[in-house]
Amino acid sequence: MGRIAEISIQQVIAACDIVDVISTYFPLKRAGTSFKANCPFHNEKSPSFHVNPSRGTYHCFGCGEGGNAIGFVMKYESLPFIDTVRKLAAKYGITLIEEAGTPEQEAAAGRRVKLLALHREIAQWFHQLLLKSPLAADARAYLKARGLTSDTARNWTIGYAPDDQGYYHDFAKEKKFADDLMIEAGIFSLRDENNPGRGIYARFRHRIMFPIRNDHGDTIAFSGRVLRSEDSPAKYMNSPATSIFNKSEVFFGFDKSKRAIHKAEKAIICEGQIDMLMAFEAGIENIIAPLGTAFTPHHARLLKRHTDQVVLCYDSDNAGYKAAASAFTELSKEGIFVRVAALPPGEDPDSLIRKEGVEALRERLDGARDFFDFQIDLRAAKSDLTDTRERMKVLRELAENLAKLRDRPILDAALTRCANRLNVGPDELRKMVQAHLAQQKKYGDRAAERDAGQTHAPASGPDSDEAPEIQHPGVRLLLQLAITDAAARRWLIAGADGPAWSTLSGGDFLQRILDAPLDPSEPSSITTWMTTLTSGEASVLAGLLHKTPGTTDGLTSARHAVSSLRVSAVTAEIDLLQNQLRQGSPSPETVIGLTTRLIALKKQLNVLHAQLREIPES
Ligand code: CTP
Ligand code: MN
Repeated sequence: MGRIAEISIQQVIAACDIVDVISTYFPLKRAGTSFKANCPFHNEKSPSFHVNPSRGTYHCFGCGEGGNAIGFVMKYESLPFIDTVRKLAAKYGITLIEEAGTPEQEAAAGRRVKLLALHREIAQWFHQLLLKSPLAADARAYLKARGLTSDTARNWTIGYAPDDQGYYHDFAKEKKFADDLMIEAGIFSLRDENNPGRGIYARFRHRIMFPIRNDHGDTIAFSGRVLRSEDSPAKYMNSPATSIFNKSEVFFGFDKSKRAIHKAEKAIICEGQIDMLMAFEAGIENIIAPLGTAFTPHHARLLKRHTDQVVLCYDSDNAGYKAAASAFTELSKEGIFVRVAALPPGEDPDSLIRKEGVEALRERLDGARDFFDFQIDLRAAKSDLTDTRERMKVLRELAENLAKLRDRPILDAALTRCANRLNVGPDELRKMVQAHLAQQKKYGDRAAERDAGQTHAPASGPDSDEAPEIQHPGVRLLLQLAITDAAARRWLIAGADGPAWSTLSGGDFLQRILDAPLDPSEPSSITTWMTTLTSGEASVLAGLLHKTPGTTDGLTSARHAVSSLRVSAVTAEIDLLQNQLRQGSPSPETVIGLTTRLIALKKQLNVLHAQLREIPES
């Protein structure tokens, strides 16, 4: 398996009927030649989400989202581009032509397919054992006692790993999974790494099995819980790291909760997978759990792609506080706003739901406080804050965390609030924060150097969200004309005598649109090109397509827009020169140079104004 051939991608784009695609997710209402619905990407009461079937694009006038059918599915399902193409190809029965990769890539892709198939099969096997096998009687009783229903077990493909390894060997034999693949997946382990001849053993025995899934819902690993605590000191055992699983990059339940996170515009993070799935089943769906590991920068970056707000819902003991503090650190680095929900001592979300019902948990979540309030309350409960020394200690701790806030206004607000609560002047606390910032800068640079060697390339291509900034209405009009009006487009390509596009915001984007193989009379050429853009760019483009320029003569409008842009460019340069003349005491040579240029520019401006008067503003 390698790259999907360009021709196949175009075939999929051509086959996609945008109304048909979007209607599989929610109903669209006809409105004249287009269709409408309430926008799925923001909350609204009257529909501003428009679908234009003849252009093959959608656009929301409320939140600005927009793009073609592929972009819609990518956004709605949070899928990468290639996965979306595969999904739509399957929907329309298109066989994709795959171009071969290098032999190494082919081998790696082959292993991946095999590993995923093995995980899929074994998850089903565990699951069927749990549902039906006499071997799993204890496991069923255990889950029942914990209030976990068989519906929940089905929704999450929960399973049972048998105690006797013989069953594993029978399973592998029946499914023709070689031992080395079972070892690679971490289902079997070597008794002795240095001496493979000593045989293998099954890692998960007599455990409740929770499949761990990636973003798209493929099972990539397992977490197994002991049934009897005396069996093993490790309450939970996870699959080892494999080529498809790295526990510090995965959230349990994310494949299911992603949509709810988008809708709620915040994510709840709890500590345990049972907490996660029990809350989800009880109707709190925007929840995830890291896999019992430290919160990593990778986790924070992953989350930042989906939300700006997090509510931490950790145990209210010291370990829970430490975990919350480290999650706060990573999330703040990404500019995510963190609040903390305090649970009653000794409870986790699962136990609270069982004891007091889901509303009790909801109340706690709604009452979540700013991370700093949580920190102060926690300290106030334990130490005497009227004591100056104690107070200084807490202040130092607060300052360290305040210094992690990336956003200036948020930092200022939090700082003032902390200072008020601890009865110190804000300036005193600010000085402490600044000391931390200075230190961070010193060490931060080194950390950045270290990271630079490891980090992946910055996100780009269709996954990234960057939208071109367009300030000047003239540029906006030209962008619009370049994709909707053939005559204007030809004139612009032929080299309209405008200012250098690259100096204008949005100008680079205009240049790319002019360079692209687009045909305004052929909407599919535009939707095809859209797939090469970032989702932000695609949104801008779709927005331009959906707003009619309100002009009948595109060429005249384009000439008018170009002339006004030139006027703006010349005026800006004149302002700049006049400022230079006024500043300091320039030498006579400089004055002569500047004034000569000024006179030339003013002449140019007069000509431009005269031209503008001649072009009727259509
Ligand atoms: N965990 C782990 N290994 C352990 C203990 C815990 O990987 N030995 C992880 C698991 O993902 C677990 C999470 O840490 O879900 C939280 O642990 P804990 O609070 O101890 O467990 P609970 O989720 O409350 O599990 P349970 O209710 O089943 O006891
Ligand atoms: Mn628990």
